[in-house]
Amino acid sequence: MNAESTSAVPAPDDPTSQFVAWVRGAAPYIHAFRGKTFVVGFGGEVAAGDRAQRLAYDCNLLAALGIRLVLVHGARPQIDVELARRGLAPRFHHGLRVTDAEALECVKAAMAVTRFEVEALLSQGLPNTPMAGSYMRVTGGNFITARPVGVVDGVDYQYTGAVRKIVAEEINADLDQHNVVLITPLGVSPAGEIFNLAMEEVAEAVAVAVKAEKLIYLCDAPGLLDADGGLIESVTADEAQARLASGDGLTEDLGLFLPCAIRAVRRGVARCHLIDHDKDGGLLLEFFTHAGVGTVVSRDPLFRLREATVDDVAALVSLITPMEADGTLVRRGRELLEQEIERFTVVEHDGVLVGCAALYPFSEDNAAELACLAVTPEYRRAGLGDQLLKRIERRARVQRLERLFVLTTRTAHWFRERGFSEIGPEALPRKKRELYNLQRRSKVFVKLL
Ligand SMILES: CC(C)(COP(=O)(O)OP(=O)(O)OC[C@H]1O[C@@H](n2cnc3c(N)ncnc32)[C@H](O)[C@@H]1OP(=O)(O)O)[C@@H](O)C(=O)NCCC(=O)NCCS
Repeated sequence: MNAESTSAVPAPDDPTSQFVAWVRGAAPYIHAFRGKTFVVGFGGEVAAGDRAQRLAYDCNLLAALGIRLVLVHGARPQIDVELARRGLAPRFHHGLRVTDAEALECVKAAMAVTRFEVEALLSQGLPNTPMAGSYMRVTGGNFITARPVGVVDGVDYQYTGAVRKIVAEEINADLDQHNVVLITPLGVSPAGEIFNLAMEEVAEAVAVAVKAEKLIYLCDAPGLLDADGGLIESVTADEAQARLASGDGLTEDLGLFLPCAIRAVRRGVARCHLIDHDKDGGLLLEFFTHAGVGTVVSRDPLFRLREATVDDVAALVSLITPMEADGTLVRRGRELLEQEIERFTVVEHDGVLVGCAALYPFSEDNAAELACLAVTPEYRRAGLGDQLLKRIERRARVQRLERLFVLTTRTAHWFRERGFSEIGPEALPRKKRELYNLQRRSKVFVKLL
């Protein structure tokens, strides 16, 4: 290496390297989310000022990355201001506003102004801002049919409504045109009456109806916290339900949004994220970094072990290429991966492929090779390697194979600690022995199944 090329290699803490590493780290998520629908619900306190400006910047970027965006805004503080301006007092029952005819006029006025303000923010395009050069078309419409909530505990909610139906095909048609859909939580009954709806319930119903990949609530807390105040990164719907029942540490927003999040993931939305509305770039950090910044609610645990399909080839190539380059794994071409894809088991986290292993049977010798075991560095030491190994062992047993062997140059101890013992290459099945690469000088380990 000459002096020139040495100086061209930036140190790992150099800002350029960090930038490049960040963009590369975000790449799998960018691939995974392009063309997916995200529904973002936020209260009226996010619809104005700095928070709204930052949200507009982030939405602009998400839309530019090909994410189909539906935004649902609230207007609770704006409605309260309007009521106060007219000398009226807000009325709530079980956290839900009671909307009489006078309050409905305030609701309509506050919702209309808030909507226009959000639209205006999304329509900016000033140079020297993150919106430069962008043109986001924002659309809306009569997508929601409502019904009255009615009388609860003797309290008549009057013009407070619940969602009856969402016209999902029209929302999807708008998203197909690359529009951002902005929804105001007002609904109309078949009789033509207007109803005031809760933002969180509208966002939930829309996410379910359009089969969104993600439902996101921007809220007044970093997410769910554990007993020591640490952020809980992910919970299943059942765990969230238990938390809701205990009521521990639930802020006003979490108390309102969590039931909607639980219902949404149980009705088919893949993930629901609770993100702090004060976190600058919260949406970007949550979706494009490994750690994320909020709490994600999912119906099932976030990690999923499954057999690979041909659609996984591109992700597998990106996962194993760095380990092939440093000699940890034997080089396999993309073509070979395509041909042998059904031999692979993969593990994904939140839809992104983070580990793999393959099983190559040698039936005439009652044996099989475990090959290409790999876990992406950020996800190591979480037991995924172990889970992949167990799955491969199970697959081999189902095929009534008695021995599992592996060739390794650097992971000998890992296999030893998992019941493998070293043997000589001469003990390999004949076909494998013929292919054994002497130069690589791999150690051979075997485990009886
Ligand atoms: C080997 C590998 C798959 C393990 O994945 P993982 O998800 O981190 O595995 P687990 O979480 O189940 O196990 C982690 C444990 O293995 C240990 N370990 C990891 N690599 C090891 C190695 N090369 N030698 C010995 N132990 C190792 C870790 O230190 C950790 O133990 P500790 O928590 O007690 O310190 C992963 O390190 C990897 O992808 N390595 C590069 C590819 C490779 O070597 N593949 C095997 C070639 S056939």
